[in-house]
Amino acid sequence: MENQYIIKGGIPLRGEVTISGAKNAALGILAAAIMTNDTVVIDNLPDVRDINVILEAIQGIGAIVERIDAHTVKINGSTITDVTIDYDSVRKIRGSYYLLGALLGKYNKANVSLPGGCDIGSRPIDQHLKAFRALGATVNIEYGMINASAEKLTGNHIYLDVASVGATINIMLASCMADGRTVIENAAKEPHVVDVANFLNSMGANIKGAGTDKIRISGVTKLHSSEYSIIPDQIEAGTFMIAAAATKGDVLIKNVIPRHLECISVKLTEIGVNVEEFDDAVLVSCKNRLFHTQIKTLPYPGFPTDMQPQIATLLALSDGTSTVTESLFENRFKYVDELSRMGASIKVEGNIAIIEGVEGLTGASISAPDLRAGAALVVAGLVADGYTTIDSIRYIERGYENFEEKMASLGASIEKIPVDDERAVQKFKLKVS
Ligand code: EPU
Repeated sequence: MENQYIIKGGIPLRGEVTISGAKNAALGILAAAIMTNDTVVIDNLPDVRDINVILEAIQGIGAIVERIDAHTVKINGSTITDVTIDYDSVRKIRGSYYLLGALLGKYNKANVSLPGGCDIGSRPIDQHLKAFRALGATVNIEYGMINASAEKLTGNHIYLDVASVGATINIMLASCMADGRTVIENAAKEPHVVDVANFLNSMGANIKGAGTDKIRISGVTKLHSSEYSIIPDQIEAGTFMIAAAATKGDVLIKNVIPRHLECISVKLTEIGVNVEEFDDAVLVSCKNRLFHTQIKTLPYPGFPTDMQPQIATLLALSDGTSTVTESLFENRFKYVDELSRMGASIKVEGNIAIIEGVEGLTGASISAPDLRAGAALVVAGLVADGYTTIDSIRYIERGYENFEEKMASLGASIEKIPVDDERAVQKFKLKVS
């Protein structure tokens, strides 16, 4: 049964919220975990759909996957019997492409269905494939599958045309047990790239320079067991920062790495939000009306594309004219029409959204077009006057753990109810009125 969120807006968020582990780091780490025949224990795993899908895919090829609790998993890849990941098991997630790098790196052979994921624009994987070929693999795409195989993998110098997160992680996976040395130039520097490198190193890999644009990998012969805790999710934290600011609230966001949030904190401070950093928390509060600014999404440490819809929502409620330029994905403004239905004034020209700040938003029935846009629309609903219903929340559930529960714990009036259940709507309205 499809669910939707129902929200009554207008309540400032207050209190404390704990951020879960990083989804996009976890996807790479879970793929990496099957590369050793020893048992690996991974903690601070976010309990979200994308993660459960990749765990099922790993189990499906024979690995032992033991869920110790919602956030901890034990994996043993020694029992893998198959290197084929079919469409049904991974069509829903983009991170499935990491199984290509991991299986190729371990078994010199992998057949993985072309990835799905959020529809945020065309998402080529040419850099991944170019790199596998540079390491000595033969790569063919046939019948929707990517088939990669090699007699043996040999380190090489790889220059990425674009600083791709996915390609950088995939190269680390495929090359960490290759013969000799691999160098990735123009590597992505995102925190989750560093986390995957740290995890691989904890299993005995030799990867240096992750977090800079040049990563050097010296192949090792085997990887061993490890216990590892995933970093906190930068984007979940950023989303709660924006929700706190947009609702004129006061929220302590815990279990974060403030350095990873600086690209967001700096912009929030610039428009008038108070952001106070602690060792592993940030306090975000806001009382006054905010100012306009210019945002351009860029690879880390630039402003993250995964925070673009959320900041645009905040700017839709800030004084003056703001611009938001999306430079990574061409189809990431699909939420704009929904926000406009709530009273926002936004015009999209090419890859730039021109936002005229309005005084307030009003509730409407809207639909989440993708993961981050869906989260941004929840923020809009929390601010809007009256009731908002948001359907297609399965997108949001791909990447945010207990989103509505965490928002509700901060005082928001939000509930998950079945779509087309008029009685549930009436019950919610009675409860909150
Ligand atoms: N690109 C290419 N060729 C490639 C790979 C990428 O041209 O072979 C281009 C893309 O079209 C894009 C840019 O390079 O313009 C960056 O793409 P990247 O490869 O870095 O993105 P990704 O690995 O597909 C990950 C996250 C996304 C996040 C981006 C950017 C995962 C599973 N996904 O995608 O997360 O937006 O990095 O940071 O890690 C999300 O979580 O909502 C999400 C979409």
